[in-house]
Amino acid sequence: MDETGSRLRKRKFAQSYHVDMKQCPISGCDSRGHLMGRFERHFTLAACPIYHNLTPERCKANHEANERLRKDQAAELGKATPHHNTRNQSEVEPSPNQVKYRKKVQKSRENHAAGSSENRKNLPDREDDPGMREPFLNHIASQYDLNLFRQAQALASEGLESELERLHESGLLAQDGSNPDRRIKVIEIGRYEMDTWYSSPYPEEYVQLPKLFICEFCLKFMKSSTILRRHMAKCVWRHPPGDEIYRKGTISVFEVDGKKNKIYSQNLCLLAKLFLDHKTLYYDVEPFLFYVMTEADLTGCHMVGYFSKEKNSFLNYNVSCILTMPQHMRKGFGKMMIDFSYLLSRKEGKTGSPERPLSDLGLLSYRSYWTDIILRYLSTLAASADLVIRDISQETAVHPADIVSTLQALQMLKYWKGKHIILKKQDIIDTWVQKQSKRPAEFASRSIDPTCLKWLPSRQK
Ligand code: ACO
Ligand code: ZN
Repeated sequence: MDETGSRLRKRKFAQSYHVDMKQCPISGCDSRGHLMGRFERHFTLAACPIYHNLTPERCKANHEANERLRKDQAAELGKATPHHNTRNQSEVEPSPNQVKYRKKVQKSRENHAAGSSENRKNLPDREDDPGMREPFLNHIASQYDLNLFRQAQALASEGLESELERLHESGLLAQDGSNPDRRIKVIEIGRYEMDTWYSSPYPEEYVQLPKLFICEFCLKFMKSSTILRRHMAKCVWRHPPGDEIYRKGTISVFEVDGKKNKIYSQNLCLLAKLFLDHKTLYYDVEPFLFYVMTEADLTGCHMVGYFSKEKNSFLNYNVSCILTMPQHMRKGFGKMMIDFSYLLSRKEGKTGSPERPLSDLGLLSYRSYWTDIILRYLSTLAASADLVIRDISQETAVHPADIVSTLQALQMLKYWKGKHIILKKQDIIDTWVQKQSKRPAEFASRSIDPTCLKWLPSRQK
């Protein structure tokens, strides 16, 4: 890109992204008025009348006219045959007022279509300052459609400003209202609002937002709480897509095929990246399966976490990425999902291992899981029985290398005469048994019951 282009891009970016909570970023604008027409001041480009080639007075007049129109229409439509409770509206005859209104809209659209090429020719040249103004829209659609678009823009700008004010008040934006490291810092999903840990490659226009709104069921991401609320009223999803392959009590696991549910899987990866530092899978989801663990209540199956797994892993990895949603961390779900991943490996008749590198939290959780597995195995083994790493591996599906590294960490392994010897240290086993008995009941219940799995490996399906 040439230098002018790059400068323009940077300025445009700075304007849409930098938010001074008192002053509109458009040069020459004194922050008077609001695109919505019913506020005295604005402070974002989205709500700036001048940016939209309007004046504060025009916005106010538009708002008043729209309000009058809305009232008239409501009154007119109110006279129509009641139809709100009718399931099949197409069977209901429209009232004369409705027919009249429809014709008016059609006419407005036809008039526009007839003169559209002429209209486009008349568009003024906007090379004066393209980053500072919206292109003229007056002739690109019918007056009716343009009005609708303007109303939607105004509503969105109102939502954006009130959200920014709220974040500013709660101290989530810097002093000048900016979002300096260009990453989504806060998300709202389901009943939770949470800080994120890392950046994630959401589309450019979303990365600039201080907060992202996500549907907890279909994982669609949105720009404002108003849009999310509207979406939630329409969204029919109440659980992840794919097959429910495990259910015990309120806990379920859904197997989601990245090929069959591409958008969901991509959205899941984008969401996960907000809490994962090093993984790079976002768009190429087709070679993966996603195992989403949920907890059910009367409103639906709420995601507690997930792990992804390559359909054909050359290195026999049985987990590619694993995440517990932050609101559910440290309650035993991570180890439950790890256990589930090994259960699938056992069904496949394979040993498995998580993809490297592991994050710090990943290593902590795997180390704890492998320790549990090994010490449980040792605690149930007859005193006289031989300890063979291959046997532990075959029974648990944990890869021998992970068993060796865990035994080493426990200082229970000795290398003697070219062979690894396991030292069965009874004090370590006793301490572990004691720790298990003291775990809170809710943790103890967070275990996988292999009899509740309804699943066959893909080669047997
Ligand atoms: N500090 C200290 N110990 C911790 C912490 C922590 N913050 N978090 C978990 N642990 C320990 C727990 O104490 C537990 O050990 P214990 O049973 O011996 O007490 C063990 O780790 C597992 O705890 P869970 O509650 O089962 O795990 P959780 O549900 O919190 O999930 C996970 C663990 C998935 C790693 C979670 O922390 C997470 O999603 N982190 C962000 C994403 C990430 O780093 N994923 C792993 C990347 S590596 C990979 O994908 C292969
Ligand atoms: Zn949804």
